[in-house]
Amino acid sequence: MRLPIANVPIWPEGASKAAHELDLLYLVIVGLTVFFCSVVFGLVIYFVSKYYAGSKADRSNPAFHNMSLELAWSLIPLALGLFVFGWAAKLFVEMQAPIPSENALNIYVVGKQWMWQMQHPTGQRENNELHVPVGRPVKLTMISQDVIHSFYVPAFRTKADVVPGRYRTLWFEPTKLGKYHLFCAEYCGTKHSEMTGWVYVVTPEDYEKWLQDNRWGMGNKGVTVSQAGQALYEQLKCSSCHAPEQRIGPPLAGLYGSTRTLSDGRKVVADYDYLRQAILDPQAVTVSGYEPIMPPYRGQLTEQEVIQLIEYIKELSVPPAPPGADVGPTKDKVLGGNR
Ligand code: CUA
Repeated sequence: MRLPIANVPIWPEGASKAAHELDLLYLVIVGLTVFFCSVVFGLVIYFVSKYYAGSKADRSNPAFHNMSLELAWSLIPLALGLFVFGWAAKLFVEMQAPIPSENALNIYVVGKQWMWQMQHPTGQRENNELHVPVGRPVKLTMISQDVIHSFYVPAFRTKADVVPGRYRTLWFEPTKLGKYHLFCAEYCGTKHSEMTGWVYVVTPEDYEKWLQDNRWGMGNKGVTVSQAGQALYEQLKCSSCHAPEQRIGPPLAGLYGSTRTLSDGRKVVADYDYLRQAILDPQAVTVSGYEPIMPPYRGQLTEQEVIQLIEYIKELSVPPAPPGADVGPTKDKVLGGNR
């Protein structure tokens, strides 16, 4: 949409499912604001010019009360305000809550001073660029390796802080082919303004082709994220404690999404954040019945490696749970239908 004069764009291109409704909401809010501002300022000017001190206006029979007028100016703005609130809340939930889609594409994003590292589930990595297919929901799982960054794609009307220490997800569904700006929208140091990039929305065929062309190079080893995690798992000798026959550490199969009872009695769901902490700072979340003997891996793994390990753990096959076992019931809720 552009201004009728000078062809000035009013807002950036809209290229995601949420963009158009968000623009409409914005337009409605601006329209309402302009309308009520005009009414208030119009009346102020009218009354000032009519009733200034010394004017010859008729001041007999002053009005003190008009019930229907007072109800109208209270209830109509209230209804409009609630309407805007309800609409905005619906949009906010739609943009924040996971899209229940088997089809969703999981992209892992690590922000660091001063670049964006993306990783596709099939292992392809790219820096400051993101290729996504049109018409498919994309779920970003994001974390920062140092300070707070913010992942901002104006054309998708989407922005989320990327913080150290915990994962944050973000959803969008690109609807239009093209090349769109990616910004860091949180001041993060001297080269914050250079922490930009491009999101390429391509056809599903071109996306497949891009995946094929980028299986190697750029640090890609032709393996998926979870295969990279498996290689790390073996390299770090995790199995010497976590293999089921070892009985030193808790077995990892079926762990993701299950409820864990910790040695201090807390019950936690083994989600992304829990698994990250269990790898980096295991003694803080020792599982009930096990000794707190696992060494912390903080400082020894990059955030990308932690994600790879979590993806591998997530994909370890789930053994059939015995009746009444502390595994499973929360699984569907945590996964939200997405794997
Ligand atoms: Cu990263 Cu600003």
